[in-house]
Amino acid sequence: MRLLVCGGAGFIGSTFVRLRVRDHGDDVTVLDKLTYAGRRENLQDVESDIRFVHGAIEDPVAVADAIGDAEAIVNFAAETHVDRSISGPEEFIVTNMQGTHVLLEAARERGLRYLQVSTDEVYGSIEEGSFTESSPLAPSSPYSATKTGADLLVSSYFHTYGLETLICRGSNNYGPHQYPEKLIPLMILNALAGDHLPVYGDGRNVRNWLFVEDFGRGIGHALAHGVPGEVYNCGGPDECDNLTVVRKIIELTGRDESLIEFVTDRPGHDRRYSLSSAKLEALGWRAQVRFEDGLARTVDWYRENDWWWEPIRSGAYREYYERHYGRALNA
Ligand SMILES: NC(=O)c1ccc[n+]([C@@H]2O[C@H](COP(=O)([O-])OP(=O)(O)OC[C@H]3O[C@@H](n4cnc5c(N)ncnc54)[C@H](O)[C@@H]3O)[C@@H](O)[C@H]2O)c1
Repeated sequence: MRLLVCGGAGFIGSTFVRLRVRDHGDDVTVLDKLTYAGRRENLQDVESDIRFVHGAIEDPVAVADAIGDAEAIVNFAAETHVDRSISGPEEFIVTNMQGTHVLLEAARERGLRYLQVSTDEVYGSIEEGSFTESSPLAPSSPYSATKTGADLLVSSYFHTYGLETLICRGSNNYGPHQYPEKLIPLMILNALAGDHLPVYGDGRNVRNWLFVEDFGRGIGHALAHGVPGEVYNCGGPDECDNLTVVRKIIELTGRDESLIEFVTDRPGHDRRYSLSSAKLEALGWRAQVRFEDGLARTVDWYRENDWWWEPIRSGAYREYYERHYGRALNA
């Protein structure tokens, strides 16, 4: 298949590109703005198999240049960090909403299939049970609100213009190449360096953890077998609260619990996310990686790939970290 993958230099997008090139022999063009979260290094091992275009999805000229003879667009491009959306929502509106609109127009002009990568955060928090695709949308942060707005716009292009759209909503991803502002890589790198481990609130926020390759396969599955106009949830096989995740990382890195430090909770922090993936499973997808195994693989990857994270921990991320947590990282 000929694919335009937007945001393909990020964590999940680059994993998806790797899976498509290696397992499916797809012809892939990546369009990416290379924000702080997007890195050519993430595509290093498939660089010679793909075409890379440096540009923004909200720029119709860049999109027209990248699109070539693609048969489908898969959109990962987004501002993705909830904390950053609280301190500065503007970028989230431009990329997540305006950018999605530009891509939808490009798909409509050319009659392309369009898959929007979305998140369980559009449903908000759930005390018990799991969200299905027909659960009400109740986002609580500027990040999840802009992802929800984009999803609604995507659905409107199916209903209004008959565009072949699909939406695939993933639960919390983890795995190699994830930028270290997110919980799991943050805790792994801090633990490896012997730094404090900042846990929000009481640490009892529950997430439905999904190994990134399972999400990549789920998105590919929805793209190939999904019914146009439909939404597919793609959740991980295991739920775990943040404090338990941190304790598992402490064990895997040989540290002790004295590194844990409880910090002021994030405003509006959702308590629990949980997805039912029955609809995507009915199409034949299954999560293959249990949390214990995926977490051990992820810790090993960060331990063995300091070439990847050292430039991040010594650059602008240090300033972001100090501003956000009020203390410096170990050098
Ligand atoms: N990380 C998760 O747990 C998770 C879970 C479910 C869904 N998602 C969704 O999956 C997608 C990818 O998430 P991720 O964790 O890989 O994010 P990421 O932050 O690692 O990567 C985002 C990528 O998008 C690029 N980008 C940002 N703005 C752009 C723009 N205006 N134009 C072009 N490229 C731009 C960045 O350079 C980067 O390469 C997002 O849409 C996110 O909402 C993430």
